[in-house]
Amino acid sequence: MAKAGWNLALTDISDKAVRVYGEAESVEKILVELAASSAKARFYPADLSDESHAQAVVRAVEQDFGRIDGLVTLAGGDICGTDDAAAGGKAPNNTAFVAHDDFMAIFNRNFLTCTFTCRAAAAGMRERGRGKIVTVASVSAGFGVARETSYAVAKAAVAHFTRCLATELRAAGVNVNCIAPGATDTARFRATLKDRTPEDLQRLHGKGRLERLAEPDDVCRVIEFFLSSDSDFISGQVLRVDGGQFTGPI
Ligand SMILES: NC(=O)c1ccc[n+]([C@@H]2O[C@H](COP(=O)([O-])OP(=O)(O)OC[C@H]3O[C@@H](n4cnc5c(N)ncnc54)[C@H](O)[C@@H]3O)[C@@H](O)[C@H]2O)c1
Repeated sequence: MAKAGWNLALTDISDKAVRVYGEAESVEKILVELAASSAKARFYPADLSDESHAQAVVRAVEQDFGRIDGLVTLAGGDICGTDDAAAGGKAPNNTAFVAHDDFMAIFNRNFLTCTFTCRAAAAGMRERGRGKIVTVASVSAGFGVARETSYAVAKAAVAHFTRCLATELRAAGVNVNCIAPGATDTARFRATLKDRTPEDLQRLHGKGRLERLAEPDDVCRVIEFFLSSDSDFISGQVLRVDGGQFTGPI
């Protein structure tokens, strides 16, 4: 996004989150890298499942950057734990029958972070009569996933919230779309591989043009499209970015 000329306001629950899976040494290093692409970039720590934090971040970003042209709601995941200490791999049990609090922890991490940030950023976009929102669900939103029930239900809620919000913001000229990635080769995803069955692993390590893990760039290019003027007449869509995997999901 920086290379495409965007200024970036980044947010995560803590500045330590980038280190949990060894994805980066520090937020400062990422900001320096982004500055090299001439992007103005800042980091705002916030627990986005708390609406007051989401509102405060959006207000701070609007003050620092003038306005928010595009919002990408990417916080989420189905890891154990809730914060920068959450390096425990996949939750051992994420069925429909886990304790309510455990179910809601994963649900809220995916659904509330999305809705609270959208609610906060939509106000300025509505006022200006333009804006682009991209939510991030998962292919899990589209089928029954054993042992990932809370996550899949939350992502289905994100997908449908996107359609509803697109309808609500249509008259205001705000585009709202959702991407549903398949398995994507991020550090967090790699950390969950130890919990996969041999059949899953065989498919995940495929080397085909389509039969493989998505690279983060495969997903980023679609986010860029939804934020760009090329998608000005597209709203309310849920687009799977999964190499066609959905017909035989991993
Ligand atoms: N990697 C995949 O295979 C895959 C597939 C489909 C969808 N996704 C989705 O893509 C997104 C990014 O996934 P990733 O693989 O890069 O995982 P990731 O864990 O690296 O990224 C998720 C980030 O959300 C942050 N976060 C969690 N709770 C938060 C909160 N309350 N407030 C603020 N930040 C919070 C985490 O600290 C983490 O940095 C997630 O929404 C995930 O569900 C990933």
